[in-house]
Amino acid sequence: MTDIQLLPGLRELVDSIDRQKGAVVILGATDTGKTMLAFYLSWELQLRGRKVAIISADLGQSAFGLPATLGMAVLNNITISYQANRGPISIKNTKPHSIYFIGSTSPLGHLLQTAAGLKKLSEKAQGEGAEVLIIDTSGYVEGGAAWELKFHKIELVNARHIVAIQKEKELEDILTPHEHRRCRTIHRLKVYEGIRPRSYEQRREYRREKFSEYFKRAIIKIIPLSKVRLINPVNINKKNGSGSPYKRLLVGLNDDENITIGLGIIEDLGFKELHLLTPVEELKKVKIVRFGAIRLDEGWYDEKIS
Ligand SMILES: Nc1ncnc2c1ncn2[C@@H]1O[C@H](COP(=O)(O)OP(=O)(O)OP(=O)(O)O)[C@@H](O)[C@H]1O
Ligand SMILES: [Mg+2]
Repeated sequence: MTDIQLLPGLRELVDSIDRQKGAVVILGATDTGKTMLAFYLSWELQLRGRKVAIISADLGQSAFGLPATLGMAVLNNITISYQANRGPISIKNTKPHSIYFIGSTSPLGHLLQTAAGLKKLSEKAQGEGAEVLIIDTSGYVEGGAAWELKFHKIELVNARHIVAIQKEKELEDILTPHEHRRCRTIHRLKVYEGIRPRSYEQRREYRREKFSEYFKRAIIKIIPLSKVRLINPVNINKKNGSGSPYKRLLVGLNDDENITIGLGIIEDLGFKELHLLTPVEELKKVKIVRFGAIRLDEGWYDEKIS
């Protein structure tokens, strides 16, 4: 990550969050600087002695954690370095505290799962004693479904602050219902002009790198079906391809609370056993195997199954 250019209004924003702690939802279209801002705010607030947690609610381009999941990190898990007098930050080795499997790299068609996961992870952050919870969202802001998702995310975490990074007025529809509510403060920021938009290919490549890194040390493991519940809401077209229709499907390996321990890729699903490629060493805690809506090909690129 590069150095952050301090945008006008940033100091006031930090002061305001510091005065009124709680959840902070960062909104913006793609390539508007949401993630950079999320880390910047986290870093500033922890310098002031606040306990800060971040949720990455971006399924495709999450800055930490894995694609197709939501991630929550408590700030003492994150390495942040600061170059004196310039206000810049860089973040390395962000290690999530908890992740929640969605199974898709976009919230479209997965709005409920995304909302439920956000709620679960925000409760986890609260359980860790976070005073400020920063929520970095995806750039999905256009249309009715995006509106609903953003509205309900804000409601679910009871956002104390909504930070809108806008080029023009593209977020105003999303902001309107929260205007003049005493429980929320809306902050409007301009997009930093030096941002270079990332292409579809660059985004796809980013996910591929994350998946290939994650599965680097994966081996085939066998889970007896008597030990786990399979949650398979996706109607896979069995006529597609040869062999098992589930082959190379991405799955979430979840614990009793339905929080994700790790990911796997289905090799084979029989009547009694599930054969999985996974780097998760200890499968004893896995109680739920949640089927995703994407496959990973041999080159670790993701493809939608329906
Ligand atoms: N205030 C800023 N100062 C300097 N560089 C910035 C700033 N904001 C963003 N950038 C640059 O633009 C890049 C993209 O920003 P960022 O990843 O925060 O955008 P985003 O809105 O989260 O994108 P996405 O829609 O992919 O999630 C950053 O990696 C950084 O290089
Ligand atoms: Mg981002």
